[in-house]
Amino acid sequence: MISRLAEAIAGEVSVAGDKSISHRALILGATAVGESRISGLLEAEDVSRTAAALGALGVIVEPGNGGAWRVIGRGVGGLAEPEGVLDMGNSGTGARLLMGLVAAHPFTSIFSGDASLRKRPMNRVMEPLRKMGAAFATRAGGLLPVTVTGTESPQPIEYELPVASAQVKSAVLLAGLNAPGRTTIVEPRASRDHTERILAHYGAEIVVKDLPGGGRGITLTGQPEISAQDVTVPGDCSSAAFPIVAALLAPESTVTLRGVGVNPLRSGLLDTLGEMGAAIGIANRRDESAEPVADLTVESSPLHGVEVPAERAPAMIDEYPILAVAAAFAQGTTRMLGLSELRVKESDRLAAMAKGLEACGVKVKEDADSLTIHGSGRPPRGGAEITVDMDHRVAMAFLVLGMAAKEPVGVDDASCIGTSFPGFAEAMNELGARIEAVW
Ligand code: S3P
Repeated sequence: MISRLAEAIAGEVSVAGDKSISHRALILGATAVGESRISGLLEAEDVSRTAAALGALGVIVEPGNGGAWRVIGRGVGGLAEPEGVLDMGNSGTGARLLMGLVAAHPFTSIFSGDASLRKRPMNRVMEPLRKMGAAFATRAGGLLPVTVTGTESPQPIEYELPVASAQVKSAVLLAGLNAPGRTTIVEPRASRDHTERILAHYGAEIVVKDLPGGGRGITLTGQPEISAQDVTVPGDCSSAAFPIVAALLAPESTVTLRGVGVNPLRSGLLDTLGEMGAAIGIANRRDESAEPVADLTVESSPLHGVEVPAERAPAMIDEYPILAVAAAFAQGTTRMLGLSELRVKESDRLAAMAKGLEACGVKVKEDADSLTIHGSGRPPRGGAEITVDMDHRVAMAFLVLGMAAKEPVGVDDASCIGTSFPGFAEAMNELGARIEAVW
């Protein structure tokens, strides 16, 4: 796929449903008694893997009337042993959250995934789940495929997260749903809280306390009666990031995005772009299904380099690829700190961005857990074909770079974009981009 210099970007774009919240809405629906209706669900590859896995665990998940999805749950602790392997495709969230859920059920299940997911660390979820009573057999290094032997009598635990990971936190909380008593997570730095919010929305008893230094203590009372709910999934701020940055970089552009999630534990990119000089208006703030949502208007803006502190990383962890592209157009140096987690995403995003930007003529320095980008305030050369290594966000970031660079930018494989943003090229082209499939 190739992206060529675009003129002004203009119009309105409605980004599809939030990926993180879509997984959770399906999973909570599965633990509820009765029929939940989920509107705005992200209909993309990653979420459909979670839907299929829940189906294999005995839950009815199907498209309903009027675009909403129906989930007929089996109640807390009510899942059934799957007959086959649960293939989670590219989805780390689907794999880790469901491993937590089944760990507290008395049956065996086998998880696998694509070549990217089979390289990603799973010990981080297995360590606390073992303390709760589950057993695991894995490939060397704790990699998928993993066999989970769930426990009949899950134990509630108190667990301090060694990494700021919402996936690990969520895996423990979902296991804790079927454990008697209180499961407590202490996170030294707050990570996205969609699981906490949706558990409360479904009626579970969950108490969240702020700790000194930006951390949180989260306590869930196990074995609640979860009753079916309607959920409206907000637009995905991580997908919105691509048209937002495209509008900032392409001259004379104005783009409006409606109904985008603005959860403060996800919106670090908006803060960072604001510090860089971006003109982004936030209007109509409202709550939908316990999540904050707003409409955004973005205008082209000259950007300048900033230092992005390590403490902000959890609130924008998926946005560094597109921020790195914005930094390549900015005047001056942007330093992004505390990025070690980027090395274990769908690809090693720190290395992928450094290598790809360098190929596009950008001056970059990659360190163990930081990235420094020297912008000249002018569009970089571009003119490279980027190897995206099955990483949807790396692919989309470089296609946005191609919209405003001097020479076109290609990506070797755009099929991975379907994991989070199906119709990305079409949506961007409607705004004025020139992104084409090439064979
Ligand atoms: C996610 C959490 C983050 C993020 C991922 C989605 C989630 O991962 O990178 O895309 O939905 O909980 P970690 O929890 O590993 O930081």
